[in-house]
Amino acid sequence: MELEMEGLKPAAVYVTSPTYHGICSNLSEISRMCHSQGIPLIVDEAHGAHLGFHSQFPCSALQQGADLVVQSTHKVLCSLQQSSMLHMSGNLVDRGRICRCLQTIQSTSPSYLLLASLDAARSHLSENPEGILEKALKIAVEAKDMIEKLPGVSVLGFQSFPKFPAIDPLRLTIGFEQLGLSGHDAYEILYKDHEIVGELVGTRCITFAFNLGSSREHVQRLVSGLKHIVSSPAFIQGDKRRKKHVDSAPFADIRTSLIPRDAFFKSKRKMSIENCIGEVCGELICPYPPGIPAMIPGETITERALNYLLDVRSKGAIIVGASDPQLSSIVVCNS
Ligand SMILES: Cc1ncc(COP(=O)(O)O)c(C=O)c1O
Repeated sequence: MELEMEGLKPAAVYVTSPTYHGICSNLSEISRMCHSQGIPLIVDEAHGAHLGFHSQFPCSALQQGADLVVQSTHKVLCSLQQSSMLHMSGNLVDRGRICRCLQTIQSTSPSYLLLASLDAARSHLSENPEGILEKALKIAVEAKDMIEKLPGVSVLGFQSFPKFPAIDPLRLTIGFEQLGLSGHDAYEILYKDHEIVGELVGTRCITFAFNLGSSREHVQRLVSGLKHIVSSPAFIQGDKRRKKHVDSAPFADIRTSLIPRDAFFKSKRKMSIENCIGEVCGELICPYPPGIPAMIPGETITERALNYLLDVRSKGAIIVGASDPQLSSIVVCNS
């Protein structure tokens, strides 16, 4: 409505669904609203290449009327890393224009290895989709049932997201806040002591992905690792020291002093973190997870952004993009 008042119309609506944690948006409703205005719906379905291939999975974005859908086939199905698919449906999006856009960014040397792996993944799934995904689904449901009964940990479920229509049953997110542990603390124990590999480790939780290769043995190892954590008083005491609430990312009060292009070409210097509040940031600083930059070149460095970065770093997040990943210094623009 705000755009309409300025005489403008949105070019498209862009939604990420499912999220990394498996939360699915109501794409049927969103696509219906978009199409009533003649606007295409673009969906980042990076984590949902398997959706719609089993009766107990949420519907895929294409099934719900999306116009352009990009899927990381390598994430959930078994194609080689870096192989993705762009799907198009309907006639709201100009296919010729999409092809021309892709030509401007694509290599002229396609990788037949990646293309063949995409075709193999497609063929594998199309042979017997329900059967292939059934085992992974069963194992994921069993794991959730067992883990929900453990004291001190929580399992992400519908009750946390009542407005969202579905959660991918192959994603399992376990929270450790009641134990006072960050996801990174818990992961260190699970990884080092039990050789358990998670999909996404965060400040509050760990997300696990079930897939075609998941087995009962994996679930048993995960459950016994979690039992080890919840039954160990040492971890629970550690919690009390760490109970400080994690501030959310400081995206609401961003101040831009220079556009990123100007900041890119500015001369720069390294500055100790204690002195850099109010300076113009000269690098992209991105804690992972969530993988969203907390600062980009050209933004004024605020105390809130710095506190957020230091907090997530102290809980074990990896800082990507910064010249000093320990964050004792930050590159700033010269005035
Ligand atoms: C929501 C989402 N979209 C896109 C991507 C990037 O996908 P790809 O690795 O296929 O480039 C990721 C990567 O984790 C993601 O989480």
